[in-house]
Amino acid sequence: MADKGSCGFFLTVCVASFLMVHADFLVDARVGQLFVYELEREKFQFEFEPFLKLYGRVNNDPMVFKCNKQYFPDLPRWLRFTQRHSFDNGFLYGTPLEEDQGKNVIEITVINKRSYDTFRERLVITVQTPGKRMPYQAEFFIPLREIEKVLPTTVQEDIKQDIQRMWGTEHLDFINITSALDRGGRVPLPLPGHFEGVYVKMGTDQPFSECLLSLQSPQHLRQCEAVGKSSRDCSVCSVSSNCVTWCKSTLIPLSRPELPPPVPTPGSGILAVGGFYDPPESSPSRDFFPDYIVTVIVPLVLALILCLILTYIMCCRREGVEKRDAKTPDIQLYHHHTILSNTDELRSMAGGRRVPQPLSTLPMFNAHTGERMPPLQRPFRSDSGHIPLIMAQEETKH
Ligand SMILES: *[C@@H]1O[C@H](CO)[C@@H](O)[C@H](O)[C@H]1NC(C)=O
Repeated sequence: MADKGSCGFFLTVCVASFLMVHADFLVDARVGQLFVYELEREKFQFEFEPFLKLYGRVNNDPMVFKCNKQYFPDLPRWLRFTQRHSFDNGFLYGTPLEEDQGKNVIEITVINKRSYDTFRERLVITVQTPGKRMPYQAEFFIPLREIEKVLPTTVQEDIKQDIQRMWGTEHLDFINITSALDRGGRVPLPLPGHFEGVYVKMGTDQPFSECLLSLQSPQHLRQCEAVGKSSRDCSVCSVSSNCVTWCKSTLIPLSRPELPPPVPTPGSGILAVGGFYDPPESSPSRDFFPDYIVTVIVPLVLALILCLILTYIMCCRREGVEKRDAKTPDIQLYHHHTILSNTDELRSMAGGRRVPQPLSTLPMFNAHTGERMPPLQRPFRSDSGHIPLIMAQEETKH
């Protein structure tokens, strides 16, 4: 079992590496010129089902492509990829710059969305030196197109022919093709007759024609700003969907040498070359006393005053404590004091009451005479509630 498995794995690796080697494609690109590579689904269909073609049957599977620079997660900066739908072809396109010269190895992973098979191929794009100078460039806006519809070679040719007629020269090259969405354009409604729009930039070494130069006339600019339409529109289009918007077309003349940016004027603090820096002896002395007063003393005095006020309020002006007894400011002493005074008050109140004594406290009989006395008829002489214990003696005094 293990032998079988490892053998199968080995075979897979062999086939995969064979396919990897087999699938290297070499293409060239030029600095400053548009590069387009079409990823054809039909070709990859054959890679997925190599023997189906022998029977004259070809499937039409949906496929998606994943493209990245080898060993990197994304594409090189100058290269872009687009595929509208899994039943459409994909396109790698872009304009390499001077710094992109050399080999660009692009890994293309194809995923068959029906069988979920994957297939990988490598595309080696060699970016070469610029073929020619193109000092005259112009950009045209084609409103009725989408980027994928413009990138196929046949459509590019149609557009080129139209512009050749406007320019009056055959020596035109594509410099850039950009979806209007990449330029801040809006996604159109998903309805027929609504398109994203495409910017097409072309260049040549031939000067602009009369027709193109009218794009720079003040009258053209004024009319475009006012009504969005120019009376000097000389655009031509053989296919209506390739027609350009004349007001959105612009000339980019690069024939005049660019002025170098103005040399910065050096300020006074720059040391002359080979000069000697002589630092000042010592910095001028400074009086820190006012700063000290303001930052240390004043806050300290304020804090002290606040502290004193707080102490006075906390200790001497407590709510409920009167100035009556300054020697016993303690709250416990105060409680003790109130208990005492309340007791005194109760005692004096008890002394002044005029209700009869409870029976249990009264003597019921005279011990000497043996006479019983009705308790309630006993007159009381004193207010203090003091009852003489020996009644007989008191009666004798009467
Ligand atoms: C081509 O167009 C893209 C998108 O607008 C832009 O990022 C890129 O710089 C352009 N390249 C050249 C060479 O003009």
